[in-house]
Amino acid sequence: MIQDNYGRGVSYLRLSITDRCNLNCFYCRPGRDARFIPHKDVLTYEDMLYLLRAASGLDIQKVRLTGGDPFARRDILYFLHRLKSELPELDIRLTTNATLIAGKIRVLKDIGIKALNISLDSLDRDKYRRITGQDRLQNVLASIDRCLEEGIRVKINAVALKGVNDDELGDFLSMAVEKPLDVRFIEFMPIGEKTLWEKDYYWSSSELLQKAGGIMELFPAGHLNPNHGPARMFRPGHGLGRIGVISPLSEHFCATCNRLRITAEGRLRTCLFSDREYNLLPMIRSPRVGPDRLRLVLERAGRRKPMGHELLSGEKHEKSLCRRIMSSIGG
Ligand code: 5AD
Repeated sequence: MIQDNYGRGVSYLRLSITDRCNLNCFYCRPGRDARFIPHKDVLTYEDMLYLLRAASGLDIQKVRLTGGDPFARRDILYFLHRLKSELPELDIRLTTNATLIAGKIRVLKDIGIKALNISLDSLDRDKYRRITGQDRLQNVLASIDRCLEEGIRVKINAVALKGVNDDELGDFLSMAVEKPLDVRFIEFMPIGEKTLWEKDYYWSSSELLQKAGGIMELFPAGHLNPNHGPARMFRPGHGLGRIGVISPLSEHFCATCNRLRITAEGRLRTCLFSDREYNLLPMIRSPRVGPDRLRLVLERAGRRKPMGHELLSGEKHEKSLCRRIMSSIGG
């Protein structure tokens, strides 16, 4: 097992399978002119299978496939099939904007995908279009309902953006009352050098919860537990679902962080907020470097996993912390 110098065990890998996305959310990508990573520099499905097979020998139990958007990559279902059949014990999750999954939900269920995280920042059609550049809200809402019908668990991720979606808190709360899903607001993080990082957008979890409590009574329903993610969850009294907050800035959860990230080009990042990267791609592709050596690199890099909040406090949130844009790390 990977164990770091702070005694944290690493059992969770996030793998960005593409930096491409069909949406263009204003806080994520620095404009339309930003170039995508060339195909030849992106891990192939074979590369990823090799990497994940190696990692499974290190007791990595859970993998989350992110993007860009994972469904923007061709033949994703083929990859999921292969992954599930080669590593049946692996808990596979995906984070998606859910605009491209409409015809695939039954197949996802059949493959054994039990839960999806769905990024959705607005429940208002016009605002959704302004945020993402695409008029896809109705399509996303229909797919959320299909997932629930199929018994796929849904967690909605909404980036908390003051002046953008703070007026929709009541609507998100109603969603958590009416549907058996989790709505989680993520504090806006200073990610990506050229990304629009405006302090004015920052909406702290405590402020958000206070406002939510004014709309309806909320009962604590879930603790900080590394195996259940960094969210603090609450249940509206008579609701089917839950509402929660993820507070990377105001209440850092680095002490329980159990994850490593791999970018679409096969670069290992041991902390979202640190730009130190370990280039795995040449090792994955070299016939002279076997899985044992790859495991050793993962282990050694994991050992040096930093405490991200120390990086955060150093920067005082004045500017972006990491150079990479979010669409190439995958959240
Ligand atoms: N701050 C907080 N959350 C962000 N996400 C993307 N960029 C940011 C940011 N700067 C969210 C996405 C997705 C999740 C993986 O991260 O909306 O839901």
